[in-house]
Amino acid sequence: MRSARREYISRLNWIDHRRAIASLLAYLTRPHAAGELRVHKAGAKLLSSYEEMSRQTEAEQRRLAQAQATTDLVAGGFAGLASLGCYGVLWWLLAAGGLPLAVGGTAVVAIRTSTARLTSLVQQVNRLYEELLFLTDTEDAIEVAGEHAIPQGGAALPAPMRAVRAENVTFTYPGAEAPALQGVSVEIRRGAVTALVGANGSGKTTLTKVLAGLLLPGEGNVWWEGEAGERVEMRDADRSQVFAAVGVLAQDFPRWEMTAAANVAIGAGDRPRDMDAVRRAAREAGILELIEALPHGWDSIVFKGYERGVQLSGGQWQKLGTARTLYRGAPVLLVDEPTSALDPHAEIAAFQGLWSLAEEGHAVVLVTHRLAATMNADHIYVLDQGRLVETGTHQELMVREGGVYQGMFTAQAAQYGLAPGPGALPDPRSAQPPDHETAS
Ligand SMILES: Nc1ncnc2c1ncn2[C@@H]1O[C@H](COP(=O)(O)OP(=O)(O)OP(=O)(O)O)[C@@H](O)[C@H]1O
Ligand SMILES: [Mg+2]
Repeated sequence: MRSARREYISRLNWIDHRRAIASLLAYLTRPHAAGELRVHKAGAKLLSSYEEMSRQTEAEQRRLAQAQATTDLVAGGFAGLASLGCYGVLWWLLAAGGLPLAVGGTAVVAIRTSTARLTSLVQQVNRLYEELLFLTDTEDAIEVAGEHAIPQGGAALPAPMRAVRAENVTFTYPGAEAPALQGVSVEIRRGAVTALVGANGSGKTTLTKVLAGLLLPGEGNVWWEGEAGERVEMRDADRSQVFAAVGVLAQDFPRWEMTAAANVAIGAGDRPRDMDAVRRAAREAGILELIEALPHGWDSIVFKGYERGVQLSGGQWQKLGTARTLYRGAPVLLVDEPTSALDPHAEIAAFQGLWSLAEEGHAVVLVTHRLAATMNADHIYVLDQGRLVETGTHQELMVREGGVYQGMFTAQAAQYGLAPGPGALPDPRSAQPPDHETAS
């Protein structure tokens, strides 16, 4: 037990260290960081950190091994003394003549057999104890996760669904000092594009996760409302129905190291793969031709580390991610910065695609910094430091003098010379030549 506890505490204390070593190793050996390592000459530094951290791990392993050896020595000493005592008594019984030799011989065999069994029993109990320590942690983690998730088997969602409504939602990430969302109320209607805008860190992504049922608010409610006015709160709803009704394109959506087909079809992992639907989604996302022109077509692995591996560009990946969300085809679509890597034509096509999805009856939530797109949104919610500060259509928000939305839109438009504003980039032709005197 002593050994098991020591090992457990060591693992617990060194868990971050182990993780850091694993991620350093990934940076040093995987292709995604290779360019930066070379150009920024960071390789030697990372390697020496890796060596230093490995040395520290080895020192900890040595310390553990020494401590274990001491424990084993003491335990072995006691075991030896016990055996000695046992055989001593047996010898005394034989020598004193009270015990026949045959019985003494049988006793030796019995002692040896039971010692082996006992040792095995103690080892198993020890392993059980060791595993139990980790199992208790896992159980605690599962319990905490359960408290933060929609329970299984709740009420059915209203059908047909009309809207998802967040009411006075406050959400604080575990361990964070300030809430990421504070008293936010929004309504996401089917057949409409709802835009969420705001500065970096204002809470847009957090709000999409709350609307998707991935994060449950600490205060406030999220309601699923039906056409007939009936409604179900997210916490009381059937989790599988909520997730079946939601499609997400996350800002940092996963890039699966799998085939191109799997990367789209994983959007609906609960359905058998339908290649016609995969192609349709890819066409709408503007990536069909590129994938089909690859030597292995849809069977190409979209990661360079494999035999059939290909490397997609950032924008091509984003189109593949969009295809994944379109393939899902859920009534509520939450897309977080879906065009940040797209070229201008692809971006326009992507936005047009979102608007046609809304026309088909989907509820589309669009998080974007490209405010040209929000001009046509049915409704815009503006977040600032986790609070809802403005709401309305583009026209309504643009007449709010000194408003957050007006400020952001004007700054962006000014870069194109479409409006005067603080964001206007300097004209390079009118820029003063650098003052070499001062510079030197
Ligand atoms: N998983 C997390 N754990 C703790 N804090 C988080 C987590 N995700 C986000 N935050 C914090 O919550 C706040 C809101 O983050 P969020 O990602 O919602 O912003 P955002 O509006 O989407 O920003 P951006 O425009 O940069 O994408 C930030 O201060 C961020 O640091
Ligand atoms: Mg975000």
